[in-house]
Amino acid sequence: MPVITCIDDLKRLHKKRTPKMFYDYAESGSYTEQTFRENTSDFAQLRLRQKVAVDMSGRSTASTMIGEDVAMPVALAPVGLTGMQHADGEILAAKAAEKMGVPFTLSTMSICSIEDVAEHTTKPFWFQVYTLKDDDFMNRLFERARAAKCSAIVITVDLQIMGQRHKDLKNGLSAPPKLTPQSIANMMTKVQWGLGMLQTKRRFFGNIVGHAKGVSDPSSLSSWTAEAFDESLDWKRIAKFKEMWGGKVILKGVMDAEDARNALAVGADAIVVSNHGGRQLDGALSSIRALPSIVDAVGDKIEVHMDSGIRSGQDVLKALSLGAKGTYVGRAFVNGLGAMGEAGVTKSLEVIQKELITTMGLVGERTINDLGRHNLLIPKGFEGDWVD
Ligand code: GLV
Repeated sequence: MPVITCIDDLKRLHKKRTPKMFYDYAESGSYTEQTFRENTSDFAQLRLRQKVAVDMSGRSTASTMIGEDVAMPVALAPVGLTGMQHADGEILAAKAAEKMGVPFTLSTMSICSIEDVAEHTTKPFWFQVYTLKDDDFMNRLFERARAAKCSAIVITVDLQIMGQRHKDLKNGLSAPPKLTPQSIANMMTKVQWGLGMLQTKRRFFGNIVGHAKGVSDPSSLSSWTAEAFDESLDWKRIAKFKEMWGGKVILKGVMDAEDARNALAVGADAIVVSNHGGRQLDGALSSIRALPSIVDAVGDKIEVHMDSGIRSGQDVLKALSLGAKGTYVGRAFVNGLGAMGEAGVTKSLEVIQKELITTMGLVGERTINDLGRHNLLIPKGFEGDWVD
C-alpha cells in the first residue's frame, strides 16, 4: 500500500484509477467553479489559535449528531454515482463508516440501492432524498427507507434544477458509462476499476431504475432531474415531506439565516449549511463563510451542520469552532473510495480523525464540546460586509 498521509494523496490515486468521467463528476463545481474553489480557499483564511501548557491528555473526538453517538462529528455526505467510482461503492463506504462509528448518508442517486446497503450493514444509515413532484415515488422511497431502518432523512433543498457542470457535458456523463471511442480508450487504462465493474451487477441507479415511472433516460442524471424535480417547491411542501416521513429530518442546502428560521419553523431536526459542494449556485458564498451568521440565527434552537470544502481534520475543527454541531465529507471519502475501495474510505476517515485529534491538542482542547470561536483567529470581515 502506498504511504498515504493526507486526503490529497488519495485524490491523486483516485484520479489515476477511476475513469475520467467519474473522477471529473466528483471534482467539479458548476459554471466558473468560483464557489467550489472558495469552499476550500476560505477555510484557509481562518487561522488556529495555538495554546501551550494546557493539559491535552485524554482527548476524544466523540460527540453526537441528531442524538446519535458518533466517533467524530464527521458524516459521509450523500454523493451521487458513488458506485461508479468503485464497484459497489456505496456498500463499501457504508461499511467503512459503520466500522469507524460515523453516519453514512445514502444518496437517492446512488448505484447500490437502499436495500443493498441495508443488507450489508448492521447499523441504521441516513437516506437523502430530493424534492420530487411525484408523491407516490416519494412515499415509496420513504417506505423503503423505513423498511431499511434508516434513522433519518436528509432532504436536499437546493437542487430542484441542476447547476451546469461543464465537464459532465463534455464527458457525456452517464451510469453505466456510454461506450464511445473516447470513454472506451479511457476505461481501458483503469484495469482494476473495470474488473470490479465486470464482477458486480450494480451498474445502474439502484433507487430509480425499476422504481420511478416515465423516466426517459434512466442512465442520465441531468435528464431525470429535469423531468422529476419540483420547480414549484416551497416550505409547505417541505413540511409535507416531513409529515410523510414521520421521523427525523435534516434539511441540506441552507445558506441564509431567513431560510434557517424557515427550516426551524417546519420542524427540521437539523440543517446543513451547504452550497452543494459548489455544484449548484456558482457565486454563492462558501459554506464556511455562511456558517457563523446561521449559527447566530438558529444555533441555540436547532442542530446546525455544515458541508462543502472539508478536506482535513483541521477544516472539521474550524467548522466546529464556528458553531457547527456536525460536518460532512463528500469528495474526501470519494477520493478514498476511488483510490482503494473500502480500505481507502477507512483511510480517509482515519486521516481526518488523526488530524482532528492532533489539532485539538495543539489548540488546547480535549473534547469536541469545548471547541469554540476562541480557538480561531478570524480575519476581520471574514463573513463579508455586504450591502443590505
Ligand atoms: C447531485 O446531487 C449532484 O450534485 O450531482
